[in-house]
Amino acid sequence: MTELNLVLLGPPGSGKGTQGERLQEDLRLPYYATGDILRAAVRDETELGKTAKQYMDAGDLVPDEVIVGVIVEALESAEARDGFILDGFPRTTPQAEALDAKLADLGRAVNAVLLIDVSDDEVVRRLGGRRTCEQGGHVFHVDFNPPKVEGVCDIDGSPLVVRDDDKPEVIRKRLATYHEKTEPLVGYYDSRSVLRRIEGERKPEEVEAEIRRTLSTLRLQDEAV
Ligand code: AP5
Repeated sequence: MTELNLVLLGPPGSGKGTQGERLQEDLRLPYYATGDILRAAVRDETELGKTAKQYMDAGDLVPDEVIVGVIVEALESAEARDGFILDGFPRTTPQAEALDAKLADLGRAVNAVLLIDVSDDEVVRRLGGRRTCEQGGHVFHVDFNPPKVEGVCDIDGSPLVVRDDDKPEVIRKRLATYHEKTEPLVGYYDSRSVLRRIEGERKPEEVEAEIRRTLSTLRLQDEAV
């Protein structure tokens, strides 16, 4: 595979952010997590943040045209020329079509989509205990991945907080939104033969190992063509 244009797909709390951080270090590719980008915009009170906040707090998706513009700009940047990792985008069929169209303009295509598979019950367990670093967005869990010092990020020492959209009623809404709007992308990418399923209900290290194996296999298949 000459370049890796990778999409991480999966329900809220499936571990996209956890695995995305690890992959980014390994692969040395730019990592665009739309949730992180939007949360930074909300924090900085930019126009994007002001538009996005009401949707995010309610567990809804921000409008396609808002988020597509952000990603198109990122993909046009020089750093994304040799590949990229997308986390949280695309999340609807129009977003996937917009991504395909932009990449086709650049003579490129999405060549790997990893679906991190976890059940709704597991999502609720994970998001209920998630703690997120206020400054850098680093992710912990009170039981599954606790910080060394309670309430403090291991990486940059910032306070750990509960995300506004990790309240129980919003978690349920986000799951419903995922099933309705994002799950159809499983079929979309499967029909293009780029989808690979990753069993997500295992330890983070085991999920990471399966992702590495899957990406190596994809590279070998590509070299054999
Ligand atoms: P976003 O931030 O993308 O939220 P999400 O997709 O709901 O994903 P999460 O960040 O909640 O979970 P994750 O899969 O990254 O899991 P994590 O690694 O943190 O989006 C937020 C909002 O922004 C959306 O609701 C929407 O409003 C808006 N938005 C974003 N993109 C958009 C788009 N394209 N279009 C429109 N709107 C958009 O892990 C979760 C927890 O589990 C952590 O505590 C972690 O420590 C723990 N954990 C991880 N892996 C494991 C494991 N293997 N075992 C046990 N625990 C684990």
